[in-house]
Amino acid sequence: MESALTARDRVGVQDFVLLENYTSEAAFIENLRKRFKENLIYTYIGSVLVSVNPYKDLEIYTKNHMERYRGVNFYEVSPHIYAVADNSYRSMRTERKDQCILISGESGAGKTEASKKILQYYAVTCPASEQVQTIKDRLLQSNPVLEAFGNAKTLRNDNSSRFGKYMDIQFDFKGAPVGGHIINYLLEKSRVVHQNHGERNFHIFYQLIEGGEEDLLRRLGLERNPQQYQYLVKGNCPKVSSINDRSDWKMVRKALTVIGFNGDEVEELLNIIASVLHLGNVQYGGEDGIACITSDTQIKYLARLLGVNGAVLTEALTHKKIIAKGEELISPLNLEQASSARDALSKAVYGRTFTWLVNKINTSLAYTDDSYKHYSVIGLLDIYGFEVFQHNSFEQFCINYCNEKLQQLFIELTLKSEQEEYEAEGITWEPVQYFNNKIICDLVEEKFKGIISILDEECLRPGDASDLTFLEKLENTVGGHPHFVTHKLADGKTRKIMGRDEFRLLHYAGEVNYNVNGFLDKNNDLLFRNLKEVMCMSENKILNQCFDRDELSDKKRPDTAATQFKASLAKLMEILMSKEPSYVRCIKPNDSKQASRFDDVLIRHQVKYLGLMENLRVRRAGFAYRRRYEVFLQRYKSLCPETWPNWKGKLSDGVAILVKHLGYKPEDYKLGRSLTHTDTHAQMRKQNAIMLQAGWRGYSQRSKYQKLRTSAIAIQAWWRGILARRRAKRRRQAADTIRRFIKGFIYRHKERCPENEYFLDYVRYSFLMKLRRNLPKNVLDKSWPKPPAALTEASEHLRKLCMQNMVWIYCKKISPEWKHQMEQKLIASEIFKDKKDNYPQSVPKLFVSTRLDGENINPKVLQSLGNEKLKYAVPVTKYDRKGYKARPRQLLLTANCAIIVEDAKIKQRIDYDALKGISVSSLSDGLFVLHVPSDDNKQKGDVVLQSDHVIETLTKIAICADKVNSININQGSIKFTVGQGKEGFIDFTPGSELLVAKAKNGHLSVVSGQILSF
Ligand SMILES: Nc1ncnc2c1ncn2[C@@H]1O[C@H](COP(=O)(O)OP(=O)(O)O)[C@@H](O)[C@H]1O
Ligand SMILES: [Mg+2]
Repeated sequence: MESALTARDRVGVQDFVLLENYTSEAAFIENLRKRFKENLIYTYIGSVLVSVNPYKDLEIYTKNHMERYRGVNFYEVSPHIYAVADNSYRSMRTERKDQCILISGESGAGKTEASKKILQYYAVTCPASEQVQTIKDRLLQSNPVLEAFGNAKTLRNDNSSRFGKYMDIQFDFKGAPVGGHIINYLLEKSRVVHQNHGERNFHIFYQLIEGGEEDLLRRLGLERNPQQYQYLVKGNCPKVSSINDRSDWKMVRKALTVIGFNGDEVEELLNIIASVLHLGNVQYGGEDGIACITSDTQIKYLARLLGVNGAVLTEALTHKKIIAKGEELISPLNLEQASSARDALSKAVYGRTFTWLVNKINTSLAYTDDSYKHYSVIGLLDIYGFEVFQHNSFEQFCINYCNEKLQQLFIELTLKSEQEEYEAEGITWEPVQYFNNKIICDLVEEKFKGIISILDEECLRPGDASDLTFLEKLENTVGGHPHFVTHKLADGKTRKIMGRDEFRLLHYAGEVNYNVNGFLDKNNDLLFRNLKEVMCMSENKILNQCFDRDELSDKKRPDTAATQFKASLAKLMEILMSKEPSYVRCIKPNDSKQASRFDDVLIRHQVKYLGLMENLRVRRAGFAYRRRYEVFLQRYKSLCPETWPNWKGKLSDGVAILVKHLGYKPEDYKLGRSLTHTDTHAQMRKQNAIMLQAGWRGYSQRSKYQKLRTSAIAIQAWWRGILARRRAKRRRQAADTIRRFIKGFIYRHKERCPENEYFLDYVRYSFLMKLRRNLPKNVLDKSWPKPPAALTEASEHLRKLCMQNMVWIYCKKISPEWKHQMEQKLIASEIFKDKKDNYPQSVPKLFVSTRLDGENINPKVLQSLGNEKLKYAVPVTKYDRKGYKARPRQLLLTANCAIIVEDAKIKQRIDYDALKGISVSSLSDGLFVLHVPSDDNKQKGDVVLQSDHVIETLTKIAICADKVNSININQGSIKFTVGQGKEGFIDFTPGSELLVAKAKNGHLSVVSGQILSF
């Protein structure tokens, strides 16, 4: 895009100074045309900007554009209004000199737009704090308000400024806009009461009627129809396609708030606007030429809106009051006088309100920081452009006079002063011829002899002065002036196209015929005293400020409109002269407000009267760059070894050495008395060299950057490719997996086949992995994950293997003692499991090696055992065979026999060989019987014993005696031999508590407790 832009910029030349055929007007216009065709509306003549109104939105005013011009040298970027704005801003900051930007051109050439663009540029690009933001907003918002009240649609421009405006923007030392001030010049008040065909009154009237809320209009007594108002129908053009009154109304209302108008002020302002419309509708009738008001509706509204007494107002609108020799005379007005009194009031009210509005805006823009009074200023002048209509009146006379003055200033500052400077510097110089319009300025403003003086004289003269007597007087006084013609003075040809009531001025910009009708009235700008008095009594606060009572007592006649205007212009010239000027010369491409139409004749005319060709010739012939010796040396001394770092000799010698060193040819520069002058061409060459250098540096940096960028893009693309391919591959794989999975799931119950292979493998794999993580923790843990159908058998095998493995590991860890214990427990299990009730309670209790150790057994007993090793001993209760008396005994087991001991006495020894069997009940008692052969005399019969550890005791006996299979577990009762063939019985019954006693039947009755022994 950038290269396209530069190619476009090269259309024609960006600066007319570079034009080959610089004296040719045709070449000049051709360059303008070429660029205009490409929408390049801006071209320079040195530092002057020529702008052609494009009449279309070019989109060259964006924030990006503003950034492009910010802080950049004039020549480095294509011509733009922003470059002018930025250049002034930078000059203001670096040179600390106030600046002004003069925008000129005829009506509709784009002056107001240009000034808005400049303001916007500052608002966006200048540094801002919060407080500054408010000022920026107000500066910007002052525009729509002033345009609503001061602009109107004319034949030339749909948004023509009907007042002149000079605006100061004040900047603090940081370069931030901190305030502003506006001076307004001569509002075209006559528009309030009359408009030419195809023109409108000021925008605000239409905005109010179109956009005002129903409620508001009702309060103001207005109807939503401009045709109802006499002041709005004269031009027969209430609607304009390019204007949206309704949305403009909204914008103005908002802007008023931003500027700081409160609700009451807006209300009062609108009351005034409405009252002007009502005034226009005041109708007169009457007999004998004496005017009276025919309808009092308007008066009612007027009284309320203006805050005055209705009767007094009516009187003032139909009579005039004159003070003659200290006496007040009141005389009725005729119809014509009454109408013009009414119109005079309308104009006065509107005109003064407009001035009040400007003052109000100024208060809101005022720089309020008292601590820092020094600010720099950039002034913006957007004043009415040269105007020529079919009928030109007093206003056009003033407007065109103003343009003459501005042209004078331009000549003074650019053409004349430049040439005079060369002369003063003693530089050989071929003067450039240009038309100096001073002669016309003098014709208008010269004291006693000028048109304004003659007009004033006629206005003040007692007697029957009229517009025509004024014309006559003009003929008599300035009749011989080369720039003045009247019907009477003209040659035959001119006479045909001139009215008898006209005079013609040959302005620098062209010839204009002015109709003298109304000149005296407009210049007098008189308002009858009684109307003034009424307005002074107004309760409307704005009007109260506009109409000062002092005015009534002031005997001195106020200055006429033309004289006031002349004075204000003189002041303006002073202001502008005190500042460094920049110029924007606006050109209108056609008269029909059309985009892309380039009207040669019209443009040639403007090029001529704007003096652009002369401007170019002076630029080309002159030395564009002028600096005082010390400034020049200071700035460039570093470029030459002899002048660097300091030049001690004469300044002019230093400069001479320096320019020689820089390679300037003698014709490129001149050394004046105090200034160095560098030729435009040399300057341009230098500029070109700078531009070339800048261009080359830009180009080489750009190429380098482009290379880097291309490489970076290639690497990025390559790497992105790899990443993308990887991602695609993974996505493909994932999709495959998902597909195989889904298929596998569908075929999962089928035989293994390619469709379900993957799924089954996966299911297996995941089962095995799950199993691996969830194996049983120990031999008692019976948990096992549920296997998939295909793995049921394998799972069972694995479960067994796992269990075996755990058992094997468990066994490996068992100690000999524990093994012995387990062997005993195993035997106990074989004997008692599911057979004796107290067996389960014995399982968790470990069997001990003995219940009595050596200390608890009588030594004698131990002694008698001799070498026989004691294997187990336990305290028992023995029941006598007869009588079943319970006696405490000890039962000792050796390798060969069981011995029943009472203290030191061995009561009975039973060899294991002789042990026939052992009986025990199935209940939970601890009784047992050791059966011995009845024919053994050594024995006294079977022994009935009771042990608290019956399972342990009997297991020990069974092991020691190897009688595992000889233990009988009986239900109900046990039969035993008592000796000598006699028998005894033990009956067992279940019960809650052990009870051993002899029963009546002679049996031993045992009620077995729940858990007694184990
Ligand atoms: N730079 C521009 N870009 C687009 N349109 C413009 C530009 N300048 C002016 N115009 C158009 O021309 C009209 C008249 O411009 P304006 O500035 O009011 O003229 P002037 O103040 O010189 O009488 C504007 O309303 C707008 O439509
Ligand atoms: Mg304008």
